[in-house]
Amino acid sequence: MSTSLPRHVGIIMDGNGRWAQVRGQPRIEGHRVGAESVRDITRASRQLGLEALTLYAFSSQNWSRPADEVKALMQLLRDYLLDERAEIMDNQIRLHAIGDIERLPAFVKEPLDALCRDSAHHTGMTLTLALSYGGRESLARAARVLAARVAAGELAPDAIDVDVLGQALPTGVLPPLDLLIRTSGEQRISNFLLWESAYAELVFVDVLWPDFRRNELYRCLESYAARERRFGLTSAQLANPDSDVEPTSG
Ligand code: FPP
Repeated sequence: MSTSLPRHVGIIMDGNGRWAQVRGQPRIEGHRVGAESVRDITRASRQLGLEALTLYAFSSQNWSRPADEVKALMQLLRDYLLDERAEIMDNQIRLHAIGDIERLPAFVKEPLDALCRDSAHHTGMTLTLALSYGGRESLARAARVLAARVAAGELAPDAIDVDVLGQALPTGVLPPLDLLIRTSGEQRISNFLLWESAYAELVFVDVLWPDFRRNELYRCLESYAARERRFGLTSAQLANPDSDVEPTSG
């Protein structure tokens, strides 16, 4: 494998329902096997030395799914937090959560808060669970926080730049997002890490999430390593940063 490893990978874990449907099983069975993929991908990411892995586990919009499915997903999250606690603590993984966490039922929020708190000092990979999360909602919340600081006279409107807004987001503590993967063949961002994906490389894979295991991740990392990231510059500028070649289009 190439040595050009992303620092931060985000994953839209899609296709659990379809995985179950093609097997004639209830959708929740797809989520259950999907939780096994979460375990394998987290373990492999830690072993590879990624600094940050962010998983889209439950969107703001997912609350509108059938009540039985929401309930089963919440139960799976609780089971995951309890079952993985030792693995997370033993492997120096720092658990972080983004989204409207207050909306989660207490039987999920309590083990989540406890594990985030107890692993906060860890220096290995940061595993972020996006729960009750929406990228637009996250930006709106950051805008509210900044507006309140302006109203309180703590912040000048002119001081709000890309860095200040980025730091007001719950991902401000993480390295920049380098690679965004979506499984299931769909090619959409679906309200995930909208701000953070500005310069991320996008990889869409035609594999349903329950079938996405570490070998699929390695393939995505190979694809990432083969990309040229220009950040708005030209290839010539990247090849020779000291040259005064006139920049053309990005
Ligand atoms: C999208 O598939 C997936 C979700 C809405 C939930 C993701 C949850 C898990 C992977 C399991 C629990 C999570 C953790 C962190 C243990 P979909 O249901 O939209 O699939 P479909 O598009 O085929 O219907």
